[in-house]
Amino acid sequence: MTFDRLETTLRLRGGHRLHGAVRVHGSKNATLPIMAASLLCDGEVVIKRAPRVTDVSVMEALLESLGARVREHGTNELRISAANLGQTRAPYTLVRKLNASFDLTGALLGRLGRAEVPLPGGCVIGTRATDLHEMGFRALGADVRGARGYLIVEAPDGLRGADVSFRFPSVGATRNVMLAAVYADGTTTLRNVAMEPEVVDLANFLNAAGARISGHGTDTIVIEGVQRLHGVEYEVIGDRIAAGTLLLAGAITRGAVRVDGTDPRHHGALLAALSECGVACSHGVDWIAADAAGARSGTDILTAPFPGFPTDLQPTMTAFLATCPGTSVIEETIFNARFAYVNELVRMGADVRVQMDSNAAVVKGPAELEGAPVEAADIRGGAALVVAGLAARSETEIAGLEFIDRGYERLEEMLTELGAQIQRSSGIVALAEAASAYETSTMPTVG
Ligand code: EPU
Repeated sequence: MTFDRLETTLRLRGGHRLHGAVRVHGSKNATLPIMAASLLCDGEVVIKRAPRVTDVSVMEALLESLGARVREHGTNELRISAANLGQTRAPYTLVRKLNASFDLTGALLGRLGRAEVPLPGGCVIGTRATDLHEMGFRALGADVRGARGYLIVEAPDGLRGADVSFRFPSVGATRNVMLAAVYADGTTTLRNVAMEPEVVDLANFLNAAGARISGHGTDTIVIEGVQRLHGVEYEVIGDRIAAGTLLLAGAITRGAVRVDGTDPRHHGALLAALSECGVACSHGVDWIAADAAGARSGTDILTAPFPGFPTDLQPTMTAFLATCPGTSVIEETIFNARFAYVNELVRMGADVRVQMDSNAAVVKGPAELEGAPVEAADIRGGAALVVAGLAARSETEIAGLEFIDRGYERLEEMLTELGAQIQRSSGIVALAEAASAYETSTMPTVG
């Protein structure tokens, strides 16, 4: 008996230097909370440069399940109307696919005085705790309790401004409490907040819709409560993680790549780390570039809240460091299980050892990477396998493409623009035959 299933993979042939310029899409992690924030607005919200990634599609479905109307206009524009918002309970079937959906809690609480959202629990990259979100909602006067896997947050008489200090600058908690506080009575001060560009973009969106928020981009955000937010047209920032991924894709091939449509102020830590490796970096008002012809050594990386090195680029950076001479230590301080992709990198010939006790990886380079069939288990780990494949001698086939599609719009097309030989291939695979499929098919050589 055979069990057929549709499988889509990315197939790439490494060993080609990438060169040229490519424009990056809009930020996933800015678009998702801005979509949640649109529930606070009583007029139509137009989001421009929304990336066409599956996480955004799931958020669209979630907003619709709550009574909002979402229309796609062209490839990258979303029009959201929350005039008929009625539901306060987000369905588990959709929420479990998307951690960012927890942002709906603050938006629903602010708009309707009640939210029931499934607790995120954990995911493949680590624990997703919610204590800081809960602490912030309570400080604003909400009643917070858990029931059957849901967090129920209620404030029937409205929220009131408060002084809230976070023990850690959580991106999600900063966003969520900021969303709730927009309609609170009086002034809310949030201390030790996340300074990530996506948090700043959310505050800029809210202000464009009529909110009164200041201090975003510093460690203290002040929110003066308002009565209503109106409709607004807003363009999200470029995706700094996708931009960094493209730059590292160029660097691992020792090529020279420019990424347009991204703010260089979002890339300080990445550009500093690449420079330490001997990669020549430059930038203009809205572009960054890296020429890796002179890459000569690895470097140590410590992930940290912005402006530190982004955890979302840790896997891709590790792939690049595997090809650099010397020993590099990569310490992950944001998530407690973000090295799952390392096993696949090792199968491609990388010398990487994970030290579980210190949540760090030790990379010894330079490794000559070899193509292999590998599988992505999360968005950024998947991107790291693509980047590694670009430096590998032979063909790499990456399964688990659905993870990569959650966060990157047309990754293979952006890489093709830079000269990569990469294509998406899908077909019905009979599982009994799947084992031999990879052995018998080869990718056509391009250019
Ligand atoms: N944390 C707590 N308590 C809380 C909230 C968070 O202990 O109440 C812990 C988490 O358990 C985690 C750490 O703090 O270990 C970081 O969590 P944070 O809230 O800062 O991150 P997030 O909001 O869950 C967003 C991005 C992630 C990105 C992180 C860090 C979105 C949709 N997600 O997650 O992006 O890695 O910030 O920058 O914006 C990705 O795009 O692949 C991705 C995982």
